[in-house]
Amino acid sequence: MRFSEVPIAGPWGERHLLGLERLTADQIQTVLDLADYYHRMTQKGAVRLDLLKGFVVANLFFENSTRTRTSFSLAAKRLGADTVDFSASSSSLSKGETFVDTALTIEAMGVDLVVCRHRTPGAPHLLSRHLRAGVLNAGDGTHEHPTQGLLDILTIRQKLGRIHGLTVALVGDIRHSRVARSNIHGLIKLGARVIVCGPSTLIPADIVELGVEVAYDLDRILPEVDCVNLLRVQFERQRGAFFPSISEYAALFGMNGDRIRRGKDGMLVLAPGPINRGVELTPEVADGPNSVILNQVSNGLLVRMACLTLLARERQKAVEVAQ
Ligand code: NCD
Repeated sequence: MRFSEVPIAGPWGERHLLGLERLTADQIQTVLDLADYYHRMTQKGAVRLDLLKGFVVANLFFENSTRTRTSFSLAAKRLGADTVDFSASSSSLSKGETFVDTALTIEAMGVDLVVCRHRTPGAPHLLSRHLRAGVLNAGDGTHEHPTQGLLDILTIRQKLGRIHGLTVALVGDIRHSRVARSNIHGLIKLGARVIVCGPSTLIPADIVELGVEVAYDLDRILPEVDCVNLLRVQFERQRGAFFPSISEYAALFGMNGDRIRRGKDGMLVLAPGPINRGVELTPEVADGPNSVILNQVSNGLLVRMACLTLLARERQKAVEVAQ
């Protein structure tokens, strides 16, 4: 299979995927359409393609991850690429090597695409300035997590048929959430109304500059909302106490059966995971008919296959020009 055989109708032209803030609505649609194509291929039974045969994809994860890391590895394998897994704890970083030197060393082994997660905002951007390989941001601190934003948007589009004109509430720890920022950029570009909702201490005042509305009372906005995306409280990024207790948080901002009944019919419940049952949502909601949490996981694989394809195609063009 060649790149020319894959239906890529819209524009792309990016060597790196660093955040949704930098993409246009059309570029975002290009990724979503390609993910839909992979969905149809998978349904027809094509679980392994050889499109990225000969490409090497390196996972550079300097922060914990279950689903993002596994999903990127599996996406690369499904496309026929070779994968290299790199963990910060077992690397020469612990012997004093710098982040960029470690990445250059890995690149010198012939890596084409680098998937990077780091607790420092901007780390993948730094790599993109030093490496010839394409860089995919798999989450940089509290900044962006573009593939998570894309898979959330894909899930909504699949279930509700559109993004334009929908009202999406992002509920929880907006201040520390890279998932929130990527969702906001993507959803607004595609014409959704976005409301961020949570304790006032977890909503930065300047978030309105991104074009969102702010609400502190979930029950008040519930009747207007087509989808809620429940963001985990990022205790590991918080310095200090942002609300009195977890049970108070759950009572005010947790999704439960009662709130589902008071929301719109068919309101979608998303959560990027890992979910904390009893905090952001009750088990009844997590496992109930409104939840699309496992669809999000499946779509994560498709979105990552689409992103790897688009960046590998750019990488191949750059190599051909250099020859
Ligand atoms: C998120 C992350 O790491 O940013 N999880 C994920 O990638 N699925 C959200 C979170 O950790 O709460």
